[in-house]
Amino acid sequence: MLDSGVGGLTVLREARVLMPDRRFVYVADDAGFPYGGWEEAALRERLVELFGKLIAEHRPAICVVACNTASTLALDALRAAYPDMPFVGTVPAIKPAAERTRSGLVSVLATPGTVKRQYTRDLIEKWAGRCSVNLVASVNLASLAEDYMRHGFVDEAAVKAGIEPCFIEVDGRRTDIVVLACTHYPFLVNRMRKMAPWPVDWLDPAEAIARRALSLLPAPGELGQPQGRDLAILTGGAPDAVTRRLMQGFGLST
Ligand code: DGL
Repeated sequence: MLDSGVGGLTVLREARVLMPDRRFVYVADDAGFPYGGWEEAALRERLVELFGKLIAEHRPAICVVACNTASTLALDALRAAYPDMPFVGTVPAIKPAAERTRSGLVSVLATPGTVKRQYTRDLIEKWAGRCSVNLVASVNLASLAEDYMRHGFVDEAAVKAGIEPCFIEVDGRRTDIVVLACTHYPFLVNRMRKMAPWPVDWLDPAEAIARRALSLLPAPGELGQPQGRDLAILTGGAPDAVTRRLMQGFGLST
């Protein structure tokens, strides 16, 4: 399971509940964080190379790209490069949002990378033709979530500024769903709720991604007994004490 940082842990915690008998290797590509500002071709190349090494070393039954910024860019390239490996991606939950909205006003909160992707535009065109979808890019919410998870503190004014463009009012109708289209954001959702100008449904796709992964895995008996502890790998090298503790809290050895 891979993300640029701690965001994918929001998916890991759901996956653990559904697959307590599986072994997880969590990869935080912190040397590449944040993915949100990367140039597309360079990030795609990095992800294909990184997954190549991880697959060779850990021989997983399945790979979960627990990152919207990476999935909307590189899922096709990853599947083409490693055709025998099942990949589960994390892409903005635009379809469920379009099905659930009552006001017809949906906002998608994501990194600048996810907002500019053709993949995201195609999802809107395919599933949300009858809604008005407001794409909101945030340059710093993922970093705020990283800090919050490590130090337990977040600048609420910065969270407020980040979510503010999500809230739109037109002809008496208001945004009623905000799609959390970056896996870091669910860690901040309580602060988002607190700072929101009115209540909305904050859509977190983590459970759906974990269920998708479960549905693609062979039954535990067919896979054999997983060997070893759950691991966290950080591409930036040995983690500091705070990060090590955080990973331990999620059941991962470093
Ligand atoms: N967690 C990542 C996502 O889901 C992105 C954070 C970053 O910018 O690296 O999009």
